Amino acid sequence: MCGIVGYIGHREAYPIIIKGLQRLEYRGYDSAGIAIYDGNSIKLSKTKGKVSDLKEKIENEISTDGTLGIGHTRWATHGEPNDVNSHPHYSNSGNLVIIHNGIIENYDSLKKELIARGYTFKSDTDTEVLVNLIEEVQKSNNLKLGKAVQIALNEVVGAYAIAVFDKNKPNEIVVAKLGSPLAIGVGEDEFFIASDASPFIEFTKNAIYLEDEQMAIIRRGKDIKIRKIKSDDLVAPYIQELQLNLEQIEKGGYEHFMLKEIYEQPRAILDTFRGRLLSNEAIIKMAGIEDNMKRFLAADRIIIVACGTSWHAGLVAEYIFEDLARIPVEVEYASEFRYRNPVISEKDVVIAISQSGETADTLAAIKLARSKGAFVFGVCNVVGSSIARETDAGAYTHAGPEIGVASTKAFTTQITVLTLIALRLARAKGTISSSEFRQHLIELETIPNKVEEALQSDEAIKVIADIYKDSKNCLYLGRGFNFPVALEGALKLKEISYIHAEGYPAAEMKHGPIALIDEQMPVVVIATKTEHYEKVVSNIQEIKSRKGKIIGIVTKGDVSVRELADHVIEVPDTLESLSPLLTTIPLQLLSYHIAVMLGKNVDQPRNLAKSVTVE
Ligand code: F6R
Repeated sequence: MCGIVGYIGHREAYPIIIKGLQRLEYRGYDSAGIAIYDGNSIKLSKTKGKVSDLKEKIENEISTDGTLGIGHTRWATHGEPNDVNSHPHYSNSGNLVIIHNGIIENYDSLKKELIARGYTFKSDTDTEVLVNLIEEVQKSNNLKLGKAVQIALNEVVGAYAIAVFDKNKPNEIVVAKLGSPLAIGVGEDEFFIASDASPFIEFTKNAIYLEDEQMAIIRRGKDIKIRKIKSDDLVAPYIQELQLNLEQIEKGGYEHFMLKEIYEQPRAILDTFRGRLLSNEAIIKMAGIEDNMKRFLAADRIIIVACGTSWHAGLVAEYIFEDLARIPVEVEYASEFRYRNPVISEKDVVIAISQSGETADTLAAIKLARSKGAFVFGVCNVVGSSIARETDAGAYTHAGPEIGVASTKAFTTQITVLTLIALRLARAKGTISSSEFRQHLIELETIPNKVEEALQSDEAIKVIADIYKDSKNCLYLGRGFNFPVALEGALKLKEISYIHAEGYPAAEMKHGPIALIDEQMPVVVIATKTEHYEKVVSNIQEIKSRKGKIIGIVTKGDVSVRELADHVIEVPDTLESLSPLLTTIPLQLLSYHIAVMLGKNVDQPRNLAKSVTVE
């Protein structure tokens, strides 16, 4: 996820773009850059860091005069955040300059072809490949920029929102979209381009939201031509009047970042397996695993270290790795592991999971494991973070920035990456058959749509939240793959609503927690159709006979739990190992609505920080 801004018209472009980038920083903030056409040449400046760092740099470095420009605030996906990898990117001739939000999946093969034709690359980004591909198409066929962009995009696999201009045609910006958002503000003889309307809301309320597979040629003082990328058909611009205010726009119209991030999960999960899960070819491609396959295959065991929600993702992974790849897994709180004098050998593989990539205890655990010769693999969201740098190899989750303090999309994307790794290793070890492997790939591909379906219970969950919002305690139960989901559900409720909640393996209940149950106690039971379904139904009966209130998370079409429970929330059916990706969704929504109803600060709960960089 990145933020893009552009302007073409009669005003100075720089102040509009820099302010627009500041408003889009919630989309990414590891580096930023800007390119302005000053009437003769392109002035470009970019830097690692926040938009404020860019502003300081630009004001000492380049003249900012000019009425056409583009800017970018980055959330790295390819290439670590540094000055060179920041956008905008020039083509080899220096004529074209581009900004891009998204991921070009086939950039590697395109890059090889371009290198064979003599192109050179300064950065590690997929975006620099795209701008040179456009240049190659433009030069070899002597085409206008718009046509060249169209042809190039037809060669690209992935997601993008781009804006590109040619210094030899400085009255035109070409934009295109597939999978990443792109809004065009329409003013009097001026146009604004942005990832959302926040950069231009004070200049115009008229906006065109490009649809997927559409591109637009925007000409200064003239018109805007929209056409389909695949077919050449022209599309009549649909201009809508915006009713939202600035804050609503940044949160995508959601009341809180947490809710926005809950709803982003279908796309985030898709981005996580984009380019890695190739179901047609029945393969999983992850460079960090392929390059280190020997280390993984030689490992006697895998040790997972993490904290909080990431630790819960590690627990889910324990079930998945052991089930699919038959590798013993130990899951450790990083804070305990680092001080426990653990037994670690050179044959151990340690997987460190962290959204922020900055958690102090996880970092210390990594250093300890490496000092004992273990191979350490990172699963992080923030590209170029300390953990990403301190590990021997890794895989990013590609969830995009998570602003709400309570982790939501980080959790489901971590599970997605860990599932991909487990499946890849299972295939390499031969612990699952090729048909089982293929079945998992096909099913994993359906998960974004199934998460979308699970989100449709939102209104029903709100009703349940209203009934239980004044509870003092809450119990969460789950078994197998869904035991860690029970822990995560309880953590979500605690951290944003401040209601005491406990997660337990359902069968453990009778060893203590059952004493807590009375008519005041809501018990959330994850009772989807799994191997342990009947046993969980028995646990529900035990709670029922002690007058506990049951909220069952069940598989669509369930009958037995529906008869016993006070409320049921359905999720679509899936493979048991993938069910945590669906059962988590209602638990996130339940906590969210309870916290909102209690008037709590959902995005910044008391005493909590997004990234815990101290012990
Ligand atoms: C809970 C939460 C925390 C983090 C934990 C680890 O919602 O956000 O429990 O999961 O602080 O943070 P990362 O994943 O950044 O290492």
